[in-house]
Amino acid sequence: MSQARIAGTGSYLPRRVMTNAELECLVDTSDEWILERTGIAQRHIAADGETCADLAEQAARAAMAAAGPDNGSIDLVIVATSTPEHVFPSTACRLVERLGLPGGVIAFDVAAACSGFVYALDIANRFIRTGGAHRALVIGAEVFSRILDWSDRSTCVLFGDGSGAVVLEASDQAGILSTHLHADGRQTSLLNVPWGVGQGYEALEAERGTVSMRGNEVFRVAVRTLGGLVDETLKANGLERGDVDWLVPHQANIRIMDATARKLGLPAERMVSTVARHGNTSAASIPLALDEAVRDGRIQRGELLLLEAFGAGFTWGSALIRY
Ligand code: ACO
Repeated sequence: MSQARIAGTGSYLPRRVMTNAELECLVDTSDEWILERTGIAQRHIAADGETCADLAEQAARAAMAAAGPDNGSIDLVIVATSTPEHVFPSTACRLVERLGLPGGVIAFDVAAACSGFVYALDIANRFIRTGGAHRALVIGAEVFSRILDWSDRSTCVLFGDGSGAVVLEASDQAGILSTHLHADGRQTSLLNVPWGVGQGYEALEAERGTVSMRGNEVFRVAVRTLGGLVDETLKANGLERGDVDWLVPHQANIRIMDATARKLGLPAERMVSTVARHGNTSAASIPLALDEAVRDGRIQRGELLLLEAFGAGFTWGSALIRY
């Protein structure tokens, strides 16, 4: 059976940067509060009219260029997003056309909030290992700025826009070693967008179509759950604390990320952290961080990576990868 190996990575950030100082003019907050509680100093915000598909296309093109010339052979496209441009067609289908991929490929979106990229990677891995696909584009892309209430200081300071992608290909070398996905729908009230198109547009008048979060409670569940996920992943692979070379976590909050690194027995410099500059870009945050660390030479071929995420649903998951 083939392994699924990362052949190339790419990412994209909208040009506009919004600093904490700008947010001080919008809501009752301070640079000091945001930095201390989250580690976020700035985030990127999509331009008017710039869509999820626009962001996803840029990251996909960069990943395809990094993966090499065999791009015509991409036969699977998965986009993880909570902020697609259309109800349908999916963002993945839009990319098939925009990237000039041959008709007949498999393409669909995945909704698992901030865990979306790990979910999408797991699905692509299973396609490749069972021979259903040979070269997959796996993308996380979000325009979270569109579903924020910019008068709610408890959420609007946390998120940003961006995209990241990997090309995953069949290989006889080791690649994705194991994946662990979970969901629990019992605490949806702690983190949600309480409106969806299925409720009809009249309902939008009554319900807010923006992120609602009881952050403090989500924080506690996230730290506890990610600790269990680390244990599960290490145990499943016969690994000890300190055996992983790099932690590439979902970038929600530096305090959650640090707790996971400690649980893994890793020093801070072995965790890829972009949260200060990107904020929480939901499904895009892991491939954005991965691409940055690959391109600046920190992550080297042959090293062992742990990707992990926790998000609305709740959903959570990890992927252990020999890069
Ligand atoms: N500026 C200033 N004060 C603020 C702000 C702000 N932006 N936001 C909240 N506060 C206030 C609160 O009103 C509260 O005031 P009070 O004590 O007078 O009531 C005080 O700060 C403390 O609020 P907490 O919510 O307890 O602050 P906490 O330390 O928990 O930090 C945060 C909040 C950053 C949201 C944190 O809880 C967190 O990161 N949670 C997890 C987020 C997460 O991981 N989400 C999952 C992924 S996202 C997804 O799936 C879409």
